[in-house]
Amino acid sequence: MSIVGMLRGKGKNGFGYNTTAEEVTQGLSLNGKTYLVTGSTSGLGLETVRVLAMRGARILAAARTIEKAREATANLGSVTPVECELSNPASVRGCIEAIKRDGTRLDGIICNAGIMALPRLQTAFGYELQFFTNHIGHFILVTGLLDRLTDDGRVVVLSSALHESAPKTGIEFDNLSGAKGYDAWKAYGQSKLANLLFARALARRFAGTKKTANALHPGVIVTNLSRSIPAVARGAMAVISPLILKSIGQGAATQCYVATNQTLTVSGEYFADCNVAKSSPVSYDAALAEKLWIESEKIVAGLS
Ligand SMILES: NC(=O)c1ccc[n+]([C@@H]2O[C@H](COP(=O)([O-])OP(=O)(O)OC[C@H]3O[C@@H](n4cnc5c(N)ncnc54)[C@H](OP(=O)(O)O)[C@@H]3O)[C@@H](O)[C@H]2O)c1
Repeated sequence: MSIVGMLRGKGKNGFGYNTTAEEVTQGLSLNGKTYLVTGSTSGLGLETVRVLAMRGARILAAARTIEKAREATANLGSVTPVECELSNPASVRGCIEAIKRDGTRLDGIICNAGIMALPRLQTAFGYELQFFTNHIGHFILVTGLLDRLTDDGRVVVLSSALHESAPKTGIEFDNLSGAKGYDAWKAYGQSKLANLLFARALARRFAGTKKTANALHPGVIVTNLSRSIPAVARGAMAVISPLILKSIGQGAATQCYVATNQTLTVSGEYFADCNVAKSSPVSYDAALAEKLWIESEKIVAGLS
């Protein structure tokens, strides 16, 4: 157990910082359930696929290419690879069509894929790439699959504690291209705030139904996510990781909990360490979340 883990207690539900994905799903049968997981090829997504499949679920494992998904998830159980390159709307739409053709109803969509802190400004379709991949890609995917969700289906969106590093105003609608200024961490923070606002706006649309939408911070875990940060910093993280960071099993726990725990009914919440947590003040701004939804719809409409 890490030093931080030793200092952190458990939440009301008996789960906390140290809980792993296996522990949080202990005794649970997911036979007959189907989950779509994006970013299934590494880190938290791969662990989520492994553990949910181990509990009996069928998993639609989304990745940039079918081959990548197939290779990463071979031998994990009932796993169907699907292509979903989030920075390419045609690929995301292809994924939606494939799932519709398959006739599958989804008990959950786990929006897990992400990129972080690209050192130089990169864009897709004129939009900063982290915003486009982390938020717009998932916005297209989820809104395209709403009619495939079961009556109590769950949408689980990976945000991050770093949503706090978003610009002061929250979302810079007048700089979504990054052309007026680019800061790698601010842009990542903005994309993760967008993930959180999206979950809250979706939860409002689910009101009156048993469907839920929640966002979460998984903890800090050494994964391929840090591939864009300098090698020295990555090396230092790897050294201190066992002392102060979460393991991958612990990192995947919160998304597995929010996606599957049968006693959980809340919606529009932000979770950390498998419990509801506080997020930044701007993340509770319902008007901002609605504005982001409308702007996202306009962006998507402009792509086709
Ligand atoms: N690790 C942490 O400390 C931490 C902290 C807070 C939040 N998070 C969030 O947790 C989530 C999972 O991150 P992780 O740590 O597991 O990172 P990871 O190991 O790098 O996994 C990210 C996954 O997303 C996929 N992905 C990236 N860009 C994509 C695209 N354009 N289209 C489709 N898939 C794409 C990656 O596929 P490729 O390998 O093909 O690129 C990979 O499978 C992310 O949303 C991240 O923001 C992580």
